[in-house]
Amino acid sequence: MKKLIRNGTVVTATDTYKAEILIEEGKITAIGTTLPSHGAEIIDAKGCYVFPGGIDPHTHLDMPFGGTITKDDFESGTIAAAFGGTTTVIDFCLTNKGVPLNQSIQTWHEKAKDKAVIDYGFHLMIGEINDDVLKQLESVINDEGITSFKVFMAYKNVLQADDETLFQTLIAAKELGALVMVHGENGDVIDYLTKKALADGHTDPIYHALTRPPEVEGEATGRAATLTGLAESQLYVVHVSCADAVQKITEARNKGFDVWGETCPQYLVLDQSYLEQPNFEGAKYVWSPPLREKGHQEVLWNALKTGQLQTIGSDQCSFDFKDQKELGRGDFTKIPNGGPTIEDRVSILFSEGVKKGRVSLNQFVDITSTRTAKLFGLFPKKGTIAVGSDADIVIFDPNVQRTLSAEAHHMAVDYNAFEGMEVTGEPVSVLVRGEFVVRDKKFVGNPGSGHYLKRAKYGMLSSSDQNEKLTI
Ligand code: URP
Ligand code: ZN
Ligand code: ZN
Ligand code: ZN
Repeated sequence: MKKLIRNGTVVTATDTYKAEILIEEGKITAIGTTLPSHGAEIIDAKGCYVFPGGIDPHTHLDMPFGGTITKDDFESGTIAAAFGGTTTVIDFCLTNKGVPLNQSIQTWHEKAKDKAVIDYGFHLMIGEINDDVLKQLESVINDEGITSFKVFMAYKNVLQADDETLFQTLIAAKELGALVMVHGENGDVIDYLTKKALADGHTDPIYHALTRPPEVEGEATGRAATLTGLAESQLYVVHVSCADAVQKITEARNKGFDVWGETCPQYLVLDQSYLEQPNFEGAKYVWSPPLREKGHQEVLWNALKTGQLQTIGSDQCSFDFKDQKELGRGDFTKIPNGGPTIEDRVSILFSEGVKKGRVSLNQFVDITSTRTAKLFGLFPKKGTIAVGSDADIVIFDPNVQRTLSAEAHHMAVDYNAFEGMEVTGEPVSVLVRGEFVVRDKKFVGNPGSGHYLKRAKYGMLSSSDQNEKLTI
């Protein structure tokens, strides 16, 4: 059925204006000041912003990691995402050496297909490169529409790839039209520092942070950026946490290298002292890279404002405190890394960013949605409010005050990383392709209704012929 959103203020990455939006067959078909209703269902957005659904470029749903499996799967994770104003996620498909890439991708399709309530795509982890893998990558791009590859520079003996693999992936990506993503931490140095800490009897969660100092992130980020320049390829650095990494990205961009950076809500508002909470509660705040000294936060905010960092990903990777984080009591290296962030990503950027004057309202839309759509081959199908785009829309009350908490959230996990944080603003209703998933703060979606997204090659528009170039 047709829908007409009235009385709201439309916000895109470039403009803010009063307008009505007509939705038909899942698409936006008209935007204007006084559109005739012609039998459309009227949706009143009075007092609210109407912006494109958030696109979360970094999630780990139903992922085996650290000796366990992330608590949120594609059902609870995407329901929570929708409540938080996100209508698309791009999740990381893990691979194993020697296993056909298609088999891993199939496993990820199985995890998502009957569960997702919003649209989703996959990035593909690259752990090895050889002629066989190179041959498979063509089909990964052309048949699966997976146009971003992830290389881990950390997690030695588990996920970590060496520099030769990274360099070959960069070269292949350039030829095939994919974006290479890196987890930028020096895994070899971390391995040395963690072994030494354990040998010295240091087992508490805080040593997770102390054995992965900002220098190891800066070094790996700089190395990846240098190799990208040499390969004349394209790079996206995930979960940038510190000034050292921002500096390396900025240097690379100033040289004209095609290097992009993402940060996450936890690095913008939480700091290293959280790892020192008593009774092992510090384990809740174990991420890689780790939370940093408070001074890094201002650098990250400034980098978002000036465009040296361009996106925000949640890095959703949730584990219960009880039973799962517990695995690392007495040995911080066994604490599953990651936290629950998918639901609060958009609201934290709005409240801490827009309301506190650190980024503009239009930058907020760019950072949470539009730029991600452009970088990952989803624009203009996703990531904007425009005629012809999917009607992925958030109706957002910018004035309501609320407190983030495990009690109020929709993630399956038993704690909230931002417990007690006061935020201003909340998604009221969320539509995916013109259908309500959240309506007046109630879930009305259907598991399995999310569509798998085949994405365009890097630098291309999401149109069907995929031959049109895009300016990111
Ligand atoms: O601690 C984190 N970030 N866990 C998720 C896996 C990763 O490195 O992104
Ligand atoms: Zn119709
Ligand atoms: Zn990572
Ligand atoms: Zn991650």
